[in-house]
Amino acid sequence: MVSGVTGLLDDVAAVGRSRSGGYRRFAWTTEDLTLRDWFDGQAAARGLEVLEDGNGNRLAVWGRWSGNPGEGALLIGSHLDSVPDGGAFDGPLGVASSFAAVDRLRAGGFAPTRPIVIGSFTDEEGARFGVACLGSRLATGATTPERALALRDDDGTTLAEAMRAQGRDPRAAGPADWLAGVGQFVELHVEQGRGLVHDDAAVGVATAIWPHGRWRLDFCGEANHAGATPMGDRKDPMLTYAATALAARRLAGDARATFGRLAVEPNGTNAIPSRVTAWLDARAADEGELERLVEGIVASARSAAADDGTTVDLSAESVTGAVAFDVPLRDRLASLLDAPVLPTGAGHDAGILAAAMPTAMLFVRNPTGVSHAPSEHADDADCEAGADALAAVVRELAG
Ligand code: GLV
Ligand code: MN
Ligand code: MN
Repeated sequence: MVSGVTGLLDDVAAVGRSRSGGYRRFAWTTEDLTLRDWFDGQAAARGLEVLEDGNGNRLAVWGRWSGNPGEGALLIGSHLDSVPDGGAFDGPLGVASSFAAVDRLRAGGFAPTRPIVIGSFTDEEGARFGVACLGSRLATGATTPERALALRDDDGTTLAEAMRAQGRDPRAAGPADWLAGVGQFVELHVEQGRGLVHDDAAVGVATAIWPHGRWRLDFCGEANHAGATPMGDRKDPMLTYAATALAARRLAGDARATFGRLAVEPNGTNAIPSRVTAWLDARAADEGELERLVEGIVASARSAAADDGTTVDLSAESVTGAVAFDVPLRDRLASLLDAPVLPTGAGHDAGILAAAMPTAMLFVRNPTGVSHAPSEHADDADCEAGADALAAVVRELAG
């Protein structure tokens, strides 16, 4: 049985690795299934029973737990899926650290007073179906199965079809009974910035998650010949998109606005596009600022569309309000670990579960500060320090 965090991460280092050196581990793909098997193998090696809910969230249980109300289990864990060409740590670090923390506690003879559950949430990144934290949103009722199951990937496959193809019954998707049997959730995650580098600390405790969301903008124009159509006669939606991306940069200020994904039709070098679909990821320190930012970007898009003879349609794909983590729990963990506290602009399953139970997050220092990219990093010693911290948290909360 592999016990250190880095050994556990090494174990999955080849799964979904792409030529960029990053990872492509999308929900309900072969890579996802391989990682689910790995999770089961790690649980079995430790004698932990594994349950899967109707949304594909997997739970490895230390102790006796049936998921009934009032059992007050302590949930730890994170996710195993990735963004396109994501780093090795975003998600897997939290799952590997959870297994490593259990090993440390057992080696020290610790007997928990309540069940400990290691969770691996389905499709945290939303890389395949567009909505982030799909597993935790479905489990908590933050999204409905009707809406989620109808989501389509880039090939037109619905979530329901993707689940069925992997032997799951999509009719089981939706609010999960096991939530009522959990009392607290602590998610450990690689930091996605350099806050802990500046604090000179290996581990920190999260205070809050910025409100954030994803909006789809469909820019439509008229396909035509790239050589035979004079510039003044065009209805080119690429120009409207470009003006909108520049407006987003101008309007964002201290907030964040990113266009990281585009689909162009017909996507030919020598054809003016008929349609450009662009996905806006926007985040801000408070909800009012986020709303004003998105409204400003959309107003710029409409004004550019009027100039270009194109149209623009907007739809919100997922919007998550501000999350303030449970203050007593946060303060207790920060004092236990003598760790700094810091907010984050990144979304997490912990942000979704925070509406259902007291929730906290631990961050592990990332010397590059880069995330959602291959150069995301955490030093071996910091990974082990993170697992030590998580073990101390479990001892504190379930001792
Ligand atoms: C998830 O990692 C997100 O913040 O997009
Ligand atoms: Mn991520
Ligand atoms: Mn993550």
